[in-house]
Amino acid sequence: MSANVYPVPDDIAKNALIDKSKYDAMYKQSIEDPEGFWGEHGKRIDWIKPYSTVKNVSYDANDLYIKWYEDGTLNVSANCLDRHLEKRGDQTAIIFEGDDPSVSEYITYRDLHERTCRFANALKSMGVGKGDRVVIYLPMIPEASVAMLACARIGAIHSIVFGGFSPEALAGRVEDCGAKVVITSDEGLRGGRAVPLKRNADEALSHPGVKSVEKLVVVKRTGKDVAWNDARDVWYHEACAAASPDCPPTEVNAEDPLFVLYTSGSTGKPKGVLHTSGGYLVYASMTHEYVFDYHDGDIYWCTADVGWVTGHSYIVYGPLANGATTLMFEGVPSYPDASRFWQVCEKHKVNIFYTAPTAIRALMREGESWVKKADLSSLRILGSVGEPINPEAWEWYYEHVGNRNCPIVDTWWQTETGGILISPLPGATDLKPGSATLPFFGIEPGLLDNEGNELTGATDGNLVIKDSWPGQMRTVYGDHERFIQTYFSTFANAYTTGDGARRDDDGYYWITGRVDDVINVSGHRMGTAEVESALVAHPKVAEAAVVGVPHDIKGQGIYAYVTLNADEEPTEELRVELVKWVRKEIGPIASPDYLQWSPGLPKTRSGKIMRRILRKIAANEYDQLGDTSTLADPGVVDDLIDNRQNR
Ligand code: WTA
Repeated sequence: MSANVYPVPDDIAKNALIDKSKYDAMYKQSIEDPEGFWGEHGKRIDWIKPYSTVKNVSYDANDLYIKWYEDGTLNVSANCLDRHLEKRGDQTAIIFEGDDPSVSEYITYRDLHERTCRFANALKSMGVGKGDRVVIYLPMIPEASVAMLACARIGAIHSIVFGGFSPEALAGRVEDCGAKVVITSDEGLRGGRAVPLKRNADEALSHPGVKSVEKLVVVKRTGKDVAWNDARDVWYHEACAAASPDCPPTEVNAEDPLFVLYTSGSTGKPKGVLHTSGGYLVYASMTHEYVFDYHDGDIYWCTADVGWVTGHSYIVYGPLANGATTLMFEGVPSYPDASRFWQVCEKHKVNIFYTAPTAIRALMREGESWVKKADLSSLRILGSVGEPINPEAWEWYYEHVGNRNCPIVDTWWQTETGGILISPLPGATDLKPGSATLPFFGIEPGLLDNEGNELTGATDGNLVIKDSWPGQMRTVYGDHERFIQTYFSTFANAYTTGDGARRDDDGYYWITGRVDDVINVSGHRMGTAEVESALVAHPKVAEAAVVGVPHDIKGQGIYAYVTLNADEEPTEELRVELVKWVRKEIGPIASPDYLQWSPGLPKTRSGKIMRRILRKIAANEYDQLGDTSTLADPGVVDDLIDNRQNR
């Protein structure tokens, strides 16, 4: 743990929306009187029919339900667009910064409203209505936001699949949610390289399990020739041109679904995390305003992809509900060179910049000369998300990007939580590098031992959240039982996060990482079981076990132990082939960094793989293996140690 403490700078405290005393008072009220607190703050969004009840929640695993504002009705897109038109019609809603640095576009609220209405009507004309699922498989272009808002406008449920995912991964998600329409583009553009999204989508839709899709909408991004299925494929621009710009928002219930987003868990199949409309929007907009201390006129940039929850809550829904100017970046931090992030900050005079530790570490390695090339004087607040930020990267970010006068908000949250749960507030919280610090309003964290006893004071433990908040996920799409099992059965009467944390003497939280078989590679969540099932799907592989290993840039890398079928030779070519195979099955983010041939895996007598041992060997900590006496064949361990991969 880092010893440095950075007090709230005076000028930030003076102008901040929330200072220390306000934080204390509001936090106290939010915990003591959640009904009153959220009843009041629910009014920050526009309701068609106001709610008369606020919270209706039971965390009892035998009778579990989570409902917020349940008799209120609203429309999410109207909250993000229509209600701003009078005052901010001509204000920029989205700044689009292309992969190519000479391309940028400013989209006003009025323009975004019109584009959304047209596309919403186009979707309607394809037969999409309330409750239907629409999969969005797009690069980071404005049409991705338009597609999300258009779904919200007509009460359809969107499910975004990250553009870096493979056709196989896309197919699995389309099949699971039964999407009627899929939206993609001819190609994506990242770092000067084209990504064949339409071709991937064609391949995904040809999977035998995918039966629900009626239309594939294609945005023209690069103009590349693409294969065309006349009966199914529709050009986005043609559909929009033919549609009316007048589309009244559909009234939905607070608890009607807004989106499903697939995320990895400890078992093989990704879960469809379902978020609903009212509570989610209240929570996303409120956290966006307070955590980033968003003031009218600020230029705000979150570098995430809309394929992840961070993009949902903090590029699109939170900022737009707040009438903010939000920047969408199509490219990568290293293109055309390592100063790109900083050049974009200078070009658009960004005030609030939110990125991931893995990006900071990668840029830190390039040296601060790239940062110095740009004028970063517009920056006021910096943010971090996705994984624990190591104090060294924090200090570099603080010093070289923030010039020692921008507070860093290290925001801890999850796809499941809908919004930020633990984070500093710039005007209220003294910072400690590496700590996500204190809970947001309404969030009551707890630390439990493995038996479920609550631990008090400064301690380490399993991080749980003791009561509900409006932005919480409501279910796993199509599998409510799995929702209960995953989040409410390990410990009674609390939401289990799957993370471990330490609380210090000041009550600050330090997230220590996952306590389950989920690894975090460059801020991307991955179930080790997913990578394992991809490996064993290869005809030459008999068995595989995957663990995370410390990695300088990615935070965690992927280390795979592979047992081949008896008649297969472990060759270098096969190693390369297997790494490629995983890329193809899941996507480049799942490529194993290390792949070790292992004639046997350490198993208990009941056949359970002892991952603890595999983790230690991968991390070169094989002198601390602990008790191996329960292994069926302790001999395999020596072989694994002798043949471990050099890191
Ligand atoms: C990790 C991303 C430490 C954590 C919003 C969590 C973090 C998982 C932080 C969720 C942080 C996210 N400090 N760890 N500031 N933010 N994590 O669902 O392990 O993609 O459980 O949501 O990322 O990842 P997810």
